[in-house]
Amino acid sequence: MKFFIDTANLAQIKEAQALGVLDGVTTNPSLMAKEGIKGEANIKKHYVDICNIVDGDVSAEVISTDYEGMIREGKELAALHPQIVVKVPIIKEGIKAIKYFSDNGIRTNCTLVFSQGQALLAAKAGATYVSPFIGRLDDNSTDGVELIGKIVDMYHFYGFETQVLAASIRHTMHIIRCVEMGADVATCPLDAILGLLNHPLTDIGLAKFLADYKKVNG
Ligand code: G3P
Repeated sequence: MKFFIDTANLAQIKEAQALGVLDGVTTNPSLMAKEGIKGEANIKKHYVDICNIVDGDVSAEVISTDYEGMIREGKELAALHPQIVVKVPIIKEGIKAIKYFSDNGIRTNCTLVFSQGQALLAAKAGATYVSPFIGRLDDNSTDGVELIGKIVDMYHFYGFETQVLAASIRHTMHIIRCVEMGADVATCPLDAILGLLNHPLTDIGLAKFLADYKKVNG
């Protein structure tokens, strides 16, 4: 499973990249706003800065909701850097735009996906990634991870090549459950990735190894 980090924070992206296990980055307009990145030129520069830190795919989201606007924006974003994947919402115009991008060699991440039907349309249109938001489903009394499993099964059954990118991951256990469901990618906050390291027996074991070494070596 690939690990993406879900942030526009350059320090966090650098920290995750330094671990050596990072496969890419996802952003969205809320995450960009959280970092205070505003204005078209600054936003585009920020995407390029992110691409220059990581080796893998970097999702950059369109703001337009009409077909022509999405195509124009998507082409501009894709031209910024070869690692850019154009993020498009699962709306009627978005599906048409994803089909256009897919036919014209521009990779896409279909976002704001909350149902199997939406994921079916995204795959039919040729999306590179589909992003079901599992945390937001959980927030609404619906099992987000279960949806990941259903989409994975559906794509395998029909042979769709669209990769399932589990998004809106809130904690470490979400990552583990997504692994169990066979997600292709999990895009996570840094804390959730680092949380995978945690185990008290590791801490206790390491303390004992170091203490025993010190006993005989001083
Ligand atoms: O990748 C989508 C993600 O940024 C949404 O996360 O926590 O706002 O639901 P959240």
